[in-house]
Amino acid sequence: MLRRAPEHFLDADGIARVQAEAREGRRGFLRGAFASAMASAAGLAAAQTDPVSLAGGDPNILELPDHSRSLGQPVVTDGYGKPSRFEANLQRRQSPGLTQTRQSSVSFAPLQGLFGIVTPSGLHFERHHQGWWDIDPSKHRFMLNGSEPRMLKRAMVFTMDELMRLPSVSRFHFIECGANTGMEWGNVAVPTVQYSHGMLSCSEFTGVPLITLLEMAGVDWRHAKFALAEGADGSSMTRTIPVELIKSGEVLVAYGQNGEMLRPENGYPLRLVVPGVQGVSWVKWLRRVEVGDAPYASKDENVHYIDLMPDGTHRAYTSIQEVKSVITTPSGGQVLQDKGYYSITGLAWSGRGKVAKVDVSVDGGRNWRPARLQAPVMDKCLTRFSLDWSWNGQATLVMSRATDSSGQVQPSYRALRAVRGRRSIYHNNAIQTWLVQESGEVRNVQLS
Ligand code: MTE
Repeated sequence: MLRRAPEHFLDADGIARVQAEAREGRRGFLRGAFASAMASAAGLAAAQTDPVSLAGGDPNILELPDHSRSLGQPVVTDGYGKPSRFEANLQRRQSPGLTQTRQSSVSFAPLQGLFGIVTPSGLHFERHHQGWWDIDPSKHRFMLNGSEPRMLKRAMVFTMDELMRLPSVSRFHFIECGANTGMEWGNVAVPTVQYSHGMLSCSEFTGVPLITLLEMAGVDWRHAKFALAEGADGSSMTRTIPVELIKSGEVLVAYGQNGEMLRPENGYPLRLVVPGVQGVSWVKWLRRVEVGDAPYASKDENVHYIDLMPDGTHRAYTSIQEVKSVITTPSGGQVLQDKGYYSITGLAWSGRGKVAKVDVSVDGGRNWRPARLQAPVMDKCLTRFSLDWSWNGQATLVMSRATDSSGQVQPSYRALRAVRGRRSIYHNNAIQTWLVQESGEVRNVQLS
């Protein structure tokens, strides 16, 4: 039996208490914060997870419930369906360790509570530099232009109707913020996988390949080497996209997410999808793409989203999200309540292609076993893996290590820090370790 991570069953007050305690004592908070918060929720948690052990028979079987004896609710009680009220605590949340302002806000997806590879649209992580807007699609325009006349035959402006009339494609891809796992560069900082890895989501995106639109505008590839994507929100989000990515047909001007229009928080009515590249380049509320012959060195690529190296220099334009994986069960904050069988499961991904292999260790990296990869395994998409495991009740360290189709292997913290140091924010793809204690409580730890 597994007791879920606190986010899954604590109410808003409980979460606030966990977060407050986490803020007060960065290093020692893990046990204290969860213990006190979980004590108040113990009744509920036990009710959710206790095995049936009733001498006189289980009333849940013997006594017919109302729902088996009377008429249920009619159709269209809710024109847009919602999750069960019993799942109400599975939510995207703000991290205990980050400043929470409207100018620079981020919420994390609850990876510990998700199945398969698709993130429900309402649980997709959010990262806004100037808040989000619900833009009227009838007034939204998308413009294509060149930095000079030789780049394009003509500048073009599209309405949403005009864009949605064109042939479209639908593809599954992950999006990961370059800052995902960024708080862990120095040391263990956050308690659960929601906050350590939750700036990660995966959807089926629908849109028009950007190459189709540029060719309609008569792009001249002899001159056009880079594109600049610009968002319509107050942050003036602008990012340079190399044309090789556009020419491959992978970059989409997307309006669809999981079979419906994008959610406002994710860029409704239009966003750029740049598979394999860090989330910041997936410009939301997309209003313009310009083609030019040089990188644009905008603020979000010259000042932010750069990698601080050990010698004090910064590395820019490191956009690809390298191969990475994380075990979501067992993971921080969960409690294994007895010995015996568990299905270790998690997610793997790579910005360079497909996941080729995931190895799992249950002894701190001494021995590794190949995990099962659940189909479908798609390009630049999350892949679900699992491994059968019998826990013997002793303290143990569980880890996963992914290899991608380009041959890249996810590094240990020691190997990554040897090259990148400890003071960076972005592009931390190190192997994650969870400590399963004898008590069954799972904690975030790092092996140096
Ligand atoms: N686009 C605009 N216009 N404004 C933004 O603040 N944030 C970027 C990117 N695109 C941002 C944006 C960042 S940093 C990330 S990680 C992704 O959007 C997050 O996308 P999401 O909110 O759909 O998860």
